[in-house]
Amino acid sequence: MSKVALVTGGVRGIGLAIVDRLKADGFKVAAGYAGNEAAAKACAETHGVMIVRGNVGDFDDAARAVREVEAELGPVDVLVNNAGITRDAMLHKMTKEQWNEVIYVNLASIFNMSRQVIEGMRERGYGRIINISSINGQKGQMGQTNYSAAKAGVIGFTKALAQEVANKGITVNAVAPGYIDTEMMAAVPPNVLEKIVATIPVGRLGQGHEIAACVAFLAREDASFITGATVTVNGGQYILG
Ligand code: CAA
Repeated sequence: MSKVALVTGGVRGIGLAIVDRLKADGFKVAAGYAGNEAAAKACAETHGVMIVRGNVGDFDDAARAVREVEAELGPVDVLVNNAGITRDAMLHKMTKEQWNEVIYVNLASIFNMSRQVIEGMRERGYGRIINISSINGQKGQMGQTNYSAAKAGVIGFTKALAQEVANKGITVNAVAPGYIDTEMMAAVPPNVLEKIVATIPVGRLGQGHEIAACVAFLAREDASFITGATVTVNGGQYILG
């Protein structure tokens, strides 16, 4: 029987690449989205997966969305917490709203979503939770105190939950992408983006499918001894020991 994968933020960008890859690998896939109906419709029609609307930053809405997926596809075996936003500004210009939105969507979401599936995974003795962090949670980034804090928090959550469920057949890992060629890059001023690309040894932005390949590996049954890890996929821009 095919396993079920739920990818938040799955109708665009890195999330959509992950959806495509997991589907190709034989999963029954649901793609979550917050409100972009056009992208969601295109995803359902062109990519042939279930779409589910929900606000991952809201616990009750996350619960409803997961129940919808389970009702249609069955229990979630693989949860990819990918949904994320940027609201970049130097701290001295950052508003309370910019801080809160990023913390809720990028960090509270990890609790809101994982909490919905963890009991079932424990009962069934199997699960894969893959959290999308960021190079900027590892190294910090000017203009991103909110995003860097949230993405670093994702790594801490990953390490803690991995230990809680290690003896239950569940692995919990983080993937830390570098700068990937998605719509999110459009918010970066072109002159700044040029500076950033110059610091990537591979010499270019990454592609969504290059993140998806890493997620797909961690989602495999035989990736069972990898847990609590943060895998960096950044073209050599930030190399950790
Ligand atoms: N790398 C290098 N230099 C940067 C930089 C970066 N990431 N971000 C800003 N700077 C530099 C600018 O080039 C500028 O330098 P000069 O004064 O020499 O021209 C200086 O910092 C101030 O920047 P701005 O003039 O743009 O100041 P601002 O207040 O108008 O805007 C900002 C500040 C909002 C941080 C804007 O510069 C910006 O959006 N920077 C990009 C921040 C960034 O890297 N975000 C990552 C988005 S992608 C992502 O988050 C996905 C992921 O996981 C990797």
